[in-house]
Amino acid sequence: MDVPVLESEAEATTVAGAPVPSTTDPLWWRSAVIYQLYIRSFADGDGDGTGDIAGVRAHLGYLKELGVDALWFTPWYASPLADGGYDVSDYRQIHPAFGDISEAEALIREALALGIRTIIDVVPNHISHEHEWFKAALAAGPGSPERERFWFHPGVGPNGDGMPTHWVSNFQGETWTRTTNADGTPGEWYLHLFTPEQPDLNWNHPDVRKEHEDVLRFWFDRGVAGVRIDSAALLVKDPELPEVTGDEPAGQHPNTDRDEVHDIYRSWRAVADSYPGTRVLVGEVWMPDPVRFTNYLRPDEMHTAFNFDFMARPWKGSELRESIDSMLAAHAPVGAPSTWVLSNHDVTRTVTRYGREDSSFAFATKRFGTPTDLELGTRRARAAALLSAALPGSLYVYQGDELGLPEVEDLPEGTRQDPMHFRSNGVDPGRDGCRVPLPWAGDHPPFGFSAGTDVQPWLPQPEDWGRYTVDAEAADPGSMLSLYRAALTIRRTLDGDESFRWLDSAPDVLCFARGGGFVSVTNLSDRPIDLPEHEEFLLGSTELVNGQLAPDSTAWLRAQH
Ligand code: GLC
Repeated sequence: MDVPVLESEAEATTVAGAPVPSTTDPLWWRSAVIYQLYIRSFADGDGDGTGDIAGVRAHLGYLKELGVDALWFTPWYASPLADGGYDVSDYRQIHPAFGDISEAEALIREALALGIRTIIDVVPNHISHEHEWFKAALAAGPGSPERERFWFHPGVGPNGDGMPTHWVSNFQGETWTRTTNADGTPGEWYLHLFTPEQPDLNWNHPDVRKEHEDVLRFWFDRGVAGVRIDSAALLVKDPELPEVTGDEPAGQHPNTDRDEVHDIYRSWRAVADSYPGTRVLVGEVWMPDPVRFTNYLRPDEMHTAFNFDFMARPWKGSELRESIDSMLAAHAPVGAPSTWVLSNHDVTRTVTRYGREDSSFAFATKRFGTPTDLELGTRRARAAALLSAALPGSLYVYQGDELGLPEVEDLPEGTRQDPMHFRSNGVDPGRDGCRVPLPWAGDHPPFGFSAGTDVQPWLPQPEDWGRYTVDAEAADPGSMLSLYRAALTIRRTLDGDESFRWLDSAPDVLCFARGGGFVSVTNLSDRPIDLPEHEEFLLGSTELVNGQLAPDSTAWLRAQH
């Protein structure tokens, strides 16, 4: 194993003439730009219609040029893909469609040589029903030690045919599935907060704790710079299995955000801190209460967590201002930087969402046929890209957002894969529409996603995506890609500065100053506005009109300081 070095190696400052971000800075994560790479849909190196590590390695130059500091890979492990890989059957193997461990090691090394770190996904709440542990638990039967790693439970009632609780799944529907005993009789039930193919682990069991710490070490030993922690607030359950009432005191919900969950992240932090360089823990924590949320970011727990509050807000000045204020205020006491996220592999694409009358995001309101003005959505997404990139903290860019890809809502019948869609009986469109393979070049599918023209990508791309290809956008200075490239270059000049100060403005205008005289102004009102005093106009999401900033636009300025 050829282990990449994150910290002590002599730091290259340029690769092929381009500046390389520091790979030695222990605080790199506080202001990093992290590209979320959904590997199945990024680039297909071997021509089977599924993205893979070979495809990523072939396009590292693209990511370098975009200007990102790190890549977060959604799960790339062995998995039956019942939930797009969030059903892991073996953490120490790469899914054969994506590559193998040696390719992953090579990728980590090659990316680092370009100054790009690698973050992997860990899914501790559950594993795949095809994981050895679960297969052993089913085989070993009721009362066995193998079953204690999960939540097996007898059913309620004389025949045991009532499920132990009526907790509702995050994917809708039931959270318990009944097993069948070896003799064919109905057996115990097991808990799954997501699909039946994702049995929940019992985090009171020492094997579960030790195994995950070993998995962290396995990947840290291979040079990964951090882990994104899936469904991080769900791990600990009340062993009494009470029903959810909805009025539990904070920290005492039967399966979400229980106080004991923090011990797990303290021990993970100790593992991360035992490695040289900063190996970061990034939490997926959906939590409406900002203080309960930032509890996960206390100095001995995670480094950062996704700021879904900002992501879910509608395109409205007062809403975004309130979110920025409450998030910065909640982060301050724990000393953690905020993150800024506009979308990910679970939510509606940014240009689509911002083009709707209700531009907030909620899983419960996703429906087919919602009217969308893509032109307006794209204009706002451009403004939002600059707004979020100007805020202090780390920035996440979900692959394809830099191209302005819309949500694909008319996937052909029979091509959808997402269990969220099926478990809602087809009412929820599901998440396939934001996971469609990237268009790289050309005028017809697969648009350079796969080499060869006759390959069918695992999810079909719309015929008219020629205008969104990397090639087309790279050649167009007015494209979303050109905007992102310019923005990330300028953002780098902030050089880790974490200062933030609102400047006076109308309520529907978000205007703030950062270090070095950097000023960002976003116009969410319905009329053009004058720019604040400045020395230099750095970048705009739209052209100025008569020197004014048009509605739904952001400008970056340099003021005297
Ligand atoms: C997280 C992931 C999502 C997955 C779920 C279950 O929310 O982001 O894609 O389906 O966890 O693992």
